[in-house]
Amino acid sequence: MSRETLIDLLYLFSATTFILALKGLGSPKHARKGNGIAAFGMLVATVATFFKYVDGHALHHVWLILLAMFIGVIIAVPTARFVKMTAMPQLVAIFNGVGGGAASLVSITEFVHIKATHPATYVTLEVLLGVLIGTVSFAGSAIAFAKLQELMTGRPVTYPGQQFFNAVLGLIALALIITILVTNSTALLWILLALAFVLGIAFVLPIGGADVPVLISLLNAFTGLAVAASGFTLGSNLLIVAGTLVGASGILLTRMMSKAMGRSLSNVLFSAFGSNITATGDGNREDGRTVRSGSPEDAGVLMSYASRVVIIPGYGLAVAQAQHVVRELAEALEAKGIEVFFAIHPVAGRMPGHMNVLLAEANVPYEQLLELDEANSELQTADVALVVGANDTVNPAAKDDKDSPIYGMPIIRADLAENVLFLKRSMRPGFAGIENELLYNPKTMLIFGDAKDTLTKILATVKGA
Ligand code: TAP
Repeated sequence: MSRETLIDLLYLFSATTFILALKGLGSPKHARKGNGIAAFGMLVATVATFFKYVDGHALHHVWLILLAMFIGVIIAVPTARFVKMTAMPQLVAIFNGVGGGAASLVSITEFVHIKATHPATYVTLEVLLGVLIGTVSFAGSAIAFAKLQELMTGRPVTYPGQQFFNAVLGLIALALIITILVTNSTALLWILLALAFVLGIAFVLPIGGADVPVLISLLNAFTGLAVAASGFTLGSNLLIVAGTLVGASGILLTRMMSKAMGRSLSNVLFSAFGSNITATGDGNREDGRTVRSGSPEDAGVLMSYASRVVIIPGYGLAVAQAQHVVRELAEALEAKGIEVFFAIHPVAGRMPGHMNVLLAEANVPYEQLLELDEANSELQTADVALVVGANDTVNPAAKDDKDSPIYGMPIIRADLAENVLFLKRSMRPGFAGIENELLYNPKTMLIFGDAKDTLTKILATVKGA
């Protein structure tokens, strides 16, 4: 078997591991294994590439490549290991941006290389698409990172005529691509690069913090397409397969996230959702209704006498790092013969699977995790719904108030339970910035404080009761 055939077979093996990995990532139970399989496939592909002959020559600059890889490892490993679960979306954003930037650089290098070695050869469309899509993804991801890291405002940045301006930028980019294909001009390539950079920034500015995770998923799909374009440019089947997988799964994930929020993708991308904060955050309403608050001890006693409890975790659980104590509480309740479930909303938290990952880390059994529909049928007969740092995902306005910006988003029906215990620190609203009617429901008791502290006190009461 020739060296080339062996390398192609290894690439085929790697591509297969990527597909198997995606299957594993489809369920929380197999996600870790799926990740491991993909990492192994990537390792095989990387090592095989070192033995590849390009135009009849062995790989050049091996030491430089190894040095670049070493620097990458030094930066990436500690960053990924020590990142807080709440900062994961911005880490994904920046990693994704780097991928898009790399794909763009590959395309630029190829353009310059073709011009230098075969001046009469015209570049092909995929090289220019690689530059455009890769750079848009790089610049857009950098702004998404800045928004989530609070280096700039998370609110939509809008101005009159913005969508028109963005559409014109897009059209100019397409016109440039056509002109470069005809003229083979390097100067126009640099203009395309600059324009793609501005387009990436302009595209992301009007998208509010609440929608940025959906945007990141879309930019991830863009990076996949840019990588696939690089694959065509370099004649690498592996890059084509890997890029297309990322592109396709990114687009599917984007659609699923929009659907779980009850909104269309165009609404997410173009409506500047979150420009208007309508909640006052002071707990007083014009109709005179106020909230009822209680102590962790009250909550502990109530739960000790329940027969079915549904715990509804949200972003605040991640902020408080309360996943371990919530598992201990579930175990203490079960020891008393109380049935306990966790209701997982698909967009609870700030990224897909956020709650599943947190609860898996704390060894909550998968059988206790219920998806939306299943959870809502359990809640009809639950004595207590314990809302831990969730807000938008239990807001009844999504089904009752046609004027609400979250109208149509499927929600966890905490309001169906006989009693609602609501753990949060203040009357501040959730990510969408809107009032939550459930806080004013007579069956709701608010327990103010950090979720971890409150749960620890509730646990002590349950154990002592
Ligand atoms: P949110 O609606 O953002 O509510 C989180 C709540 O946690 C807040 O009410 C906050 O109130 C409370 N909180 C924060 N820190 C806390 C702490 N240390 N202890 C106790 N409570 C704390 O969260 P959610 O219900 O999980 O909803 C997710 C939101 O993100 C939705 O709007 C969704 O559309 C959006 N989103 C999610 C995704 C994905 S894929 N997950 C993607 C895009 C958008 P206090 O400040 O008063 O404590």
